[in-house]
Amino acid sequence: MAERKRTKGFDRPGGYALPTGATSVMRGAATDCAKADIRLMGDRVVAHQPTSTKPQPAFHASKPDTRLYVGDCRDVLSHLPDQGKVDLVFADPPFNWEVPYEGWKDGMPRDAYERFTFDWLDSCIGLLSKRGSLWVNIPDDTAAEVVMHLKRRGLVMMNWCVWHFRFGQNRRSSFIMSKVHALYFVRDPAHRIWNPEPVLEPSDRATIYRDPRTMAKLTDKGMRVPLDVWYGPYWGRVQGNNTERRPHHHNQLPEAYLERVILACSNKGSLVVDPFCGSGTTQTVARSYLRRSISIEQSRTHAKHAWDRITNIGMVHKGVSTGSQAKVSGKIGLRNSKP
Ligand SMILES: C[S@@+](CC[C@H](N)C(=O)[O-])C[C@H]1O[C@@H](n2cnc3c(N)ncnc32)[C@H](O)[C@@H]1O
Repeated sequence: MAERKRTKGFDRPGGYALPTGATSVMRGAATDCAKADIRLMGDRVVAHQPTSTKPQPAFHASKPDTRLYVGDCRDVLSHLPDQGKVDLVFADPPFNWEVPYEGWKDGMPRDAYERFTFDWLDSCIGLLSKRGSLWVNIPDDTAAEVVMHLKRRGLVMMNWCVWHFRFGQNRRSSFIMSKVHALYFVRDPAHRIWNPEPVLEPSDRATIYRDPRTMAKLTDKGMRVPLDVWYGPYWGRVQGNNTERRPHHHNQLPEAYLERVILACSNKGSLVVDPFCGSGTTQTVARSYLRRSISIEQSRTHAKHAWDRITNIGMVHKGVSTGSQAKVSGKIGLRNSKP
């Protein structure tokens, strides 16, 4: 006989629902982590001492204020005049995978890489406003250390999202890598900027199951906040023949990814910071949505190309990660005008 589902005490019936209270328990644990004596390998390496020179932006534009600094982010972040005023930090650091970035040795001893990671994370935490969020794009081999470091600094994890892509290199030695983690932390869950509205997407209930109950809702008819695994058209790795692709750079995140993060976690006029500019995806999207922004790039060549993208080229696929183009059609169905 089939087991009866126990629904009492759950947010909603169903095997994968979080028990009521689990979220607050998880968030409460953040306070305990901050008090605990958590040690990580990078702690045995001496912290970086930022240079004393006050940096000036190498590139600057207005309306909205957009600044790009050339240098080591560990030297720049703590000198920024915007301490405690940043609503969103998005960081996509070098992964220590020996990518030949111009001017950067992407292959440190493990303990030095962890120290490097803790140093820039700490500087980013110092920038956050009370309503601020910190997002980190990081692969399997360093995700756990980033999570533990942010927890011991007292930040609260809101989501552990996964960016899933299907362009993985075939190999027989283990399962093919097809994801990177998008870690979403905040200073204060109650005061954070959180805008579900602009990132809603058509729900499976409406588009697949044709469930009339979703159309009977008073708000968000047929729509939902996206799941915590992100994939789909426009969400693949940005490759050579992709229209978004910028030459001169090894790694480039999809615009859709930054669009979702920026719309959900900042407002028009908010200040957004990216310590690892790369090809400039964060600032390109931030500027397009009228957010002020700062980024830092250690390579002058990368910075120069990124600036051209940020100020001249702009977004190529604006609006693809949002539900704004989705139209409710007929009684329960949804028609999405996007390809
Ligand atoms: C993974 S890429 C960022 C890609 C970016 N998210 C995009 O979509 O184009 C990392 C970038 O950080 C830069 N970088 C590495 N170490 C740095 C440091 N200490 N300070 C500033 N930039 C650094 C590298 O030159 C590289 O361009």
